[in-house]
Amino acid sequence: MFLYVVGLVAPWLVYRWYKERKRVPNKGDKYVYITGCDTGFGNLLARHMDTLGFNVIAGCYTEKGEDELKKFASDRLETFHLDVTDSESVSKMAAFIKTLVGQKGLWAVVNNAGVALPSGPTDWLTIDDYKDMLAVNLCGVIDVTLSVLPLIKKARGRVVNVASVFGRCSPFGGPYCVSKFGVESFNDSLRINMAAFGVKVACIEPGFFRTNVTDVDLMQNSLRKLWDRLPQSQKDEYGPGFLKASIDMLDRRFRLLTDSNLMKVVGCMEHAVSAVHPRTRYSAGWDAKFFWLPVSYMPTWIMDRLFRRNIPELMPIVSAK
Ligand SMILES: NC(=O)c1ccc[n+]([C@@H]2O[C@H](COP(=O)([O-])OP(=O)(O)OC[C@H]3O[C@@H](n4cnc5c(N)ncnc54)[C@H](OP(=O)(O)O)[C@@H]3O)[C@@H](O)[C@H]2O)c1
Repeated sequence: MFLYVVGLVAPWLVYRWYKERKRVPNKGDKYVYITGCDTGFGNLLARHMDTLGFNVIAGCYTEKGEDELKKFASDRLETFHLDVTDSESVSKMAAFIKTLVGQKGLWAVVNNAGVALPSGPTDWLTIDDYKDMLAVNLCGVIDVTLSVLPLIKKARGRVVNVASVFGRCSPFGGPYCVSKFGVESFNDSLRINMAAFGVKVACIEPGFFRTNVTDVDLMQNSLRKLWDRLPQSQKDEYGPGFLKASIDMLDRRFRLLTDSNLMKVVGCMEHAVSAVHPRTRYSAGWDAKFFWLPVSYMPTWIMDRLFRRNIPELMPIVSAK
């Protein structure tokens, strides 16, 4: 039985490997627009695609990010200030890209910009916390995509959306998972709608990688700030030890489990942009492939049991009657 399975799976893997090796020709004629290039995956991808010979248009949130990126890139790479929450900034960038690419159109946009804070128990957060993060992680993705879609149709190019394993399951509260589920949904409808135009749409779903998004100190400080602004009655519901236990949990989980090899994600992004036959989804990282993805297919009660083990126990203060 085992040999039959190997006999069927092995040729399929070889065929897939062979098919996925092929890359598009004429990279020097192709323009790739990437958002969030100051740091992390976006920064590394911009430099990597530049090295491969693509014309990279890098959206940076800060001037410092633009200056740093230019130091490590060729003269071909163009940087531009971009705030994905500001429609004027997004339109300006699209107009700049239109003049740059001319009749060739835009080969690819990589929607990478994102934020992950504040995150915490759902009842510690306000609607404004949700709106602010959705503005970057979800509305930013939609706005940027729509702003350049006519140029991508012209090139019969690609849209690459960076979601997360937390677009598959929601083990913690706050707007991050909500925003990434939204990205997955936008990605799927766009993929179906754009197929007729020859535009390919791919979704990247990374696990835990060591970047600013998973910086433990930033996460711990953000959690402390959320706790500090809670009314005393709510602090009493959770109990005095809850914050410390949560902070310790973050320390154990994130310092240990984050992968420092960002090329695992950047390699997937590069494949989505430059392979002749890109995949529709990329699970980047061992934790994504062997934990988060399988868990996302499990019955709700199993998922809940697993995820609740990562939430400290409540230690409420019961007021004397
Ligand atoms: N790291 C992980 O484990 C992980 C896992 C799954 C998914 N992701 C996703 O991967 C993407 C890249 O994140 P990363 O891990 O590389 O973290 P990162 O280093 O913080 O990169 C995010 C980038 O987005 C930029 N940005 C923030 N707000 C922006 C705005 N309003 N407009 C334009 N750009 C903005 C940031 O600029 P500043 O640095 O100047 O703020 C930064 O360059 C995000 O979508 C994230 O959700 C990350």
